[in-house]
Amino acid sequence: MRLVWQVSVQSQLLIPSARANKFWHSPSREKIFSSSGEASLKQRAAAKGITYGAATNAFTLKTKPDFTAKFIQECGVLVPEMELKWESLRPSPDKFFFDDGDWLAEFARTNNMRFRGHTLVWNQGLPKWFKETINPQNAENFFLEHIKTVTKHYAGKVNSWDVVNEAIAPYEGRKDYLRKTAWLEFLGSDYIELAFRTAAEADPKALLVYNEGFLEHDLRSHDITRETTLKLLQNLKSKGVPIGALGIQGHLTGHVDLYNSQKLRSFLSDVANLGLKIIITEMDVRDQELPLDTNIRDGIVASYYEKFLSIVLDEKAVIEVSTWGLSDKSTWLTSFAGRPDGMPVRPLPLDENLQPKQAWNAIAKAFDSAPTR
Ligand code: G3I
Repeated sequence: MRLVWQVSVQSQLLIPSARANKFWHSPSREKIFSSSGEASLKQRAAAKGITYGAATNAFTLKTKPDFTAKFIQECGVLVPEMELKWESLRPSPDKFFFDDGDWLAEFARTNNMRFRGHTLVWNQGLPKWFKETINPQNAENFFLEHIKTVTKHYAGKVNSWDVVNEAIAPYEGRKDYLRKTAWLEFLGSDYIELAFRTAAEADPKALLVYNEGFLEHDLRSHDITRETTLKLLQNLKSKGVPIGALGIQGHLTGHVDLYNSQKLRSFLSDVANLGLKIIITEMDVRDQELPLDTNIRDGIVASYYEKFLSIVLDEKAVIEVSTWGLSDKSTWLTSFAGRPDGMPVRPLPLDENLQPKQAWNAIAKAFDSAPTR
């Protein structure tokens, strides 16, 4: 019987001050993130027809047996954080390196997990040689060769591919809000369509995903990203492009009034109405500016998971949820959004000692309350 972390967290209602980007706590609400039963996150999700999993890497799974055991216990899908990006797969312009990705695919297979491909086309995660090598003359060849070779290599092993990642950037100055990338510059805006068609030809069975960030919050930039994403998806569907799902990254951040249920729900249902599935692909909570106190901070982080998941899991097109990491011991936020006080960040379901936190409880409760798919 798991009945733990009944930490009573006062004052979870965070409201940004009108003048500064600071927080204050209202003592008016008390929140308890507890959970009962022994079921793991993957079991709770599976009970509702949802798959839960996390991003990780081959090195950690090979060298940290305690983490590996927890990963197997909690996760029904494995997402390689690095191993299937260009920077890992392409040591030089004429070489592919599949060893680490293959090891992960085999690990997922052996442990009955789904395996996500992340990502074929992105403006980051590129090898050092990329910039000086790719030019208007060879861009299409590199683009097509990479997508074909990698999707063929993993055909039958990858369940879903993030074919194109983060193609929208509202503030880069283009009228169509597309991100200025090498592919856009050399191949034009049809590169997105071309990527999906090429991937589908090489692996007709994988679920092909357009993955995007900045879709979650009630901010002007997120409004624009939602509108632009929807237009992009409508356009791809109207042309018969073989796209199967939208990936919503779910990198969450911390003001309670940044969650607008109505906007998010209507976006999700617009996407679902196009006949697309939805995957939450990279969920975590940035705790950079939250109070240092562990119980208070964990409660606030849990409240963001709760808020976000209560909205998105209501939509039955959402079939899979992954966190971007499983334990606080290993998270990109340590280096990308560390705390000003230098203390470790706590954005994930398990703490640095692999113990479930209030975030774990909030996710567990969200799966328990979700409608069955
Ligand atoms: O592997 C080298 C290592 O050999 C070297 O010692 C070290 C020194 O800096 O760098 C290591 O590589 C870094 C790698 O993370 C592993 O830590 C890369 O420089 C760094 O660019 C890489 O960052 C990753 C980033 O994507 C770019 O690929 C993050 O870990 C990863 O969490 C992040 O994930 C992205 C998703 O793919 C897309 N959505 C946003 C998300 C967060 O940025």
